[in-house]
Amino acid sequence: MSTLPILFEESGVENASTLRVFLIFEDHREHPKLKGDLALEAARTGFTAAFGKSIWLQDGLGQFHGAVGAGKSDTFGGLRRAAFHAIEKARALRVDEIVFELDESIRPEQAVNLVEGALLSSYSFDTHKKEKTLEEKTAELKRIVILAPDALQGALERGKVLGEAVVFARNLSNEGPSVCTPRWLVEQARERAEAAGMKVTVYDEDELRSRGFNLHLAVARGSEEPARLLHATYTPKGEIKRTIALVGKGITFDSGGYSIKPADSMTDMHIDMGGGAAVIGAMAAIGELKPEHVQVHFIVPAAENLISGNAYKVNEIIRGLSGKTVEIHNTDAEGRLLLADALTYATQQKVDEIIDCATLTGAAVVGLGEQTAGVFSPDNDFRNALVNAANTADELLWPMPLVERIEPSLKSRVADLKNIGGRWGGAISAALFLKHFVGETRWAHIDLAGPAMADSAWEYINAGGTGYGVLLLTQYIESQSAAQKR
Ligand code: BES
Ligand code: ZN
Ligand code: ZN
Repeated sequence: MSTLPILFEESGVENASTLRVFLIFEDHREHPKLKGDLALEAARTGFTAAFGKSIWLQDGLGQFHGAVGAGKSDTFGGLRRAAFHAIEKARALRVDEIVFELDESIRPEQAVNLVEGALLSSYSFDTHKKEKTLEEKTAELKRIVILAPDALQGALERGKVLGEAVVFARNLSNEGPSVCTPRWLVEQARERAEAAGMKVTVYDEDELRSRGFNLHLAVARGSEEPARLLHATYTPKGEIKRTIALVGKGITFDSGGYSIKPADSMTDMHIDMGGGAAVIGAMAAIGELKPEHVQVHFIVPAAENLISGNAYKVNEIIRGLSGKTVEIHNTDAEGRLLLADALTYATQQKVDEIIDCATLTGAAVVGLGEQTAGVFSPDNDFRNALVNAANTADELLWPMPLVERIEPSLKSRVADLKNIGGRWGGAISAALFLKHFVGETRWAHIDLAGPAMADSAWEYINAGGTGYGVLLLTQYIESQSAAQKR
């Protein structure tokens, strides 16, 4: 994988061809730098400072200068998009570096977005691609420089932490399933967590068995790759006023098991750990940002859903960690099984609230499309708080209903529950299934089967694993930390 180096000071490289840009908002177009020839160019082209619009001039030394439209000054995530458009322009001009010159008109949270946008726009997962030719390398943008007043330096550092956390999640998601196995996934997370000084426990298959994670183990049974569960804990300095568990589905490949997926639906099922990647990415960010007053448990159950003589079967009855029994009607509804045990485990940590993230159902993608995730919770205030955090983070999240009248579809003749509901409302019956395992703990479930992966790029969101969820989870945790100070 690669991202461009991002420097917060002049690079000092001589003879580099450069594009120097400043950002300008649609509603603040009286920018002091928009003068002389640039002002004429703005008038000539009808420049409005909308996203995707920009103006450029080349000086006598061959260097490029320009203004980049940043849209409305109160748009969430707006500067991420502006950074993307400027970087696209720099690439088209084939310069070596782009220099963003920020001034006091940029608010700290916007500077954060700019750095995130710069990092994410320059991301590519090229670990397994052949070396680029010399010609390709010379035509590439090499550096991104961001110059800002001292007052924005903290915001730049924060943007870097957040952008890199999303990049980390993207890298985990983009690795193929022969590399990104349950063991590898939790190992990457363990290293990060330990480096940040968190307490980390990784449960192996023996430990999971002796504790009774039988639903999780049933899913893993068809694979040579053993199951794992990651539990990392961030503990703030000083008083703990709130404890939150983030639980992420970590299926590193979902073949469907004996209820096997058709070939086309199996493509990209290495992304089935996208919820786990969101939780691990948020863990990386929280480990660096170190919010006060909130303790956060990061829990990722990991397994592969494959087929073998030992794989779990339809009509099997399994007693999970909660003590409830589940009759398997479809081995492709595996995510809710390992989440059932992981949610039970999360409640055992005596947390105030639990948020789980999972690429849980195709129905969520049908309902909401590929860009938007759905959030379910019996607690409307909690659900709304997550939607607010997502809005601030500029990740698309929409409230979904836990329709109780669908509940009877989960009844089994022989067990406490069966693992699928009826034909319609599949994202809802999946959420209702999970609800059986959270007891009285405040809980929300995010189905991110759509946005975890992109078939084609949209601005700063690359094709492939997107790292969706990292920003909204981190934003939510930080908002809870800030609320405790009041
Ligand atoms: N991992 C899939 C859901 C999924 C679909 C993720 C598309 C990403 C993109 C999940 O395990 C699954 O297979 N769900 C089934 C449930 C059904 C059998 C009740 C589905 O959605 O078809
Ligand atoms: Zn499945
Ligand atoms: Zn799955």
